[in-house]
Amino acid sequence: SSSHADSAAVAARIERRWAAIVVAIVLVFVAVVIYTGLHWAMMPPSRVETIDPTTLHVSGEFIESNLGSAVETDGSVTVRIVAQQYSFTPQCIVVPADTPLTFRVTSADVVHGFLIADTNINTMVEPGYVSTFKTRFPTTGEHLMPCHEYCGTGHEGMWAHVRVLD
Ligand code: CUA
Repeated sequence: SSSHADSAAVAARIERRWAAIVVAIVLVFVAVVIYTGLHWAMMPPSRVETIDPTTLHVSGEFIESNLGSAVETDGSVTVRIVAQQYSFTPQCIVVPADTPLTFRVTSADVVHGFLIADTNINTMVEPGYVSTFKTRFPTTGEHLMPCHEYCGTGHEGMWAHVRVLD
């Protein structure tokens, strides 16, 4: 009968609609997976740059004589710091006020925290990675720089100073 044919057509239409919804749901899942993958691939630079923590003191940019502040040709200052149980090298970081600064920090052993008091600078320092961030101190002054990630029995005594000079 024609009414039977009608209901068959309605059933087919509903079926196609559900098929479309299922495909849409699958596409959303695929999109989420792709987005998540891209998101992780675009992690902050601190996780991208790798370094061998076992040879820091032997060669490369983090040898002891290369640590601390260095003036670049464009007038900006790069500050290189190594964190290790239970100190930062150097212990006192001297930087000029109102100057673009690039901090480059890595760890020789375990995960440490890097925080400069009275600023928004707060990051992790992981062995195998170089944590990089740019900042500028508008005024002169002295900032405490404690390790804020538990790194062992000497953690409480692990801190340094940042001195901002004119
Ligand atoms: Cu280093 Cu806590």
